Amino acid sequence: MSLTDATTAPLGGPTLPQERRLVTAIPGPRSEELLARKADAVAAGVGHTAPIAAVAAGGGVVVDADGNSLIDLGSGIAVTTVGNAHPKVVAAVQAQVAQFTHTCFMISPYESYVAVSEALNRLTPGDHAKKSALFNSGAEAVENAVKIARKHTGRQAVVAFDHAYHGRTNLTMALTAKAMPYKSGFGPFAGEVYRAPLSYPFRDGLDGATAARNAIAMMEKQIGADNLAAVIIEPIQGEGGFIVPADGFLPELVRWCNENGVVFIADEVQTGFARTGAMFASEIFGIVPDLITTAKGIAGGLPLAAVTGRAEIMDASHTGGLGGTYGGNPIACAAALAAIEAYEEEGLVERAKAVGAILTDRLSAMQAADPRIGDVRGHGAMVAIEFVVPGTNAPDAGLAGAVAKACIAEGVIVLTCGTYGNVIRFLPPLSIPDALLHEGLDVVAAALAAA
Ligand SMILES: Cc1ncc(COP(=O)(O)O)c(C=O)c1O
Repeated sequence: MSLTDATTAPLGGPTLPQERRLVTAIPGPRSEELLARKADAVAAGVGHTAPIAAVAAGGGVVVDADGNSLIDLGSGIAVTTVGNAHPKVVAAVQAQVAQFTHTCFMISPYESYVAVSEALNRLTPGDHAKKSALFNSGAEAVENAVKIARKHTGRQAVVAFDHAYHGRTNLTMALTAKAMPYKSGFGPFAGEVYRAPLSYPFRDGLDGATAARNAIAMMEKQIGADNLAAVIIEPIQGEGGFIVPADGFLPELVRWCNENGVVFIADEVQTGFARTGAMFASEIFGIVPDLITTAKGIAGGLPLAAVTGRAEIMDASHTGGLGGTYGGNPIACAAALAAIEAYEEEGLVERAKAVGAILTDRLSAMQAADPRIGDVRGHGAMVAIEFVVPGTNAPDAGLAGAVAKACIAEGVIVLTCGTYGNVIRFLPPLSIPDALLHEGLDVVAAALAAA
């Protein structure tokens, strides 16, 4: 629990001591009190991972009401990539909130919405003419990307992949693969959604070309390209288990989509904005999506999402067909412009690669010494370990859950994921000091050794 070197990373957020500090058990009495109120007041369906009452966060820590300081290896599910309460984001939000809070862009447009759209059009892959539309959440962006693709093609069917996660609204539940906890009992789901096999090298052992052939065969035989509006895929799957497809899989899907007039949608809600060591993960695979959905890291913690893509596709909708009361809210747009400035000016793509190198080195060393870690995979600051029964690739969800729980009890927030629940994912804020990241990984290693 040493005070770590806070100079090794761009430090966002309030000037909190960058240390792991446990002054009570987790949860402490104040957190217990809040969790009891939560149980009484908040719907049971809204769960939580770390049993704490958060009161401050910044750099690489989350501080709770009892004075515990936890190392943050989850960024609130890939959101606070620039750092929690990043000073530029805070200043931009404060200035905007004092100016005006809302007009509704569809009633009285304002500059920041247009500037965010211009930035997205510039930053997303491809040098073709692009346009954007802004929304509130990742799920809403996905819904709108599908609307736009259907309108553009005049077709209805949409293909999503095994292990996909695209959100919790009705259409996005249909696109999402995993029943528990996301879908079970919440149907019926939106129609004309089909599921194709993914490339999952650790489990299918297939090269990218073969895996793509399987997916394309399914689309041709079970749907027919003429009926297919869009293929939607996360370039690296997030909730599904940080699954990195084999080389060649994504380019072959894009080629087939282009050849058949199918809109290729890259869902970069989790992978976008420097997380993977590229501004967008599509760049890693050398693909240029027709449409790209973004959210999470876009605005440093404020709710904002976007669809960006080829101008002729984005313009398919009649005027008034896209929008929403809050989409592109001025405070969220001000935050996004500040966050985007931070990504570009603070070298956060490079920082993600450096964080990724630490994660990959440390986790690979753990894997070499422990046959329960079947796979270490990811790109940049988006890395996961998949637990298996040694000598097999049978998923060990119990171990992932036990290690994650032990880490949180020791003051390190880690998140699990995966269709089989057997993956621990690491997505620290890029503002985490190196020493604190190492200390967090020491705790993970100790929790694993004790499990
Ligand atoms: C790839 C992907 N798409 C969509 C979503 C849904 O985003 P939101 O929770 O903002 O609706 C998520 C959220 O985790 C995601 O990871």
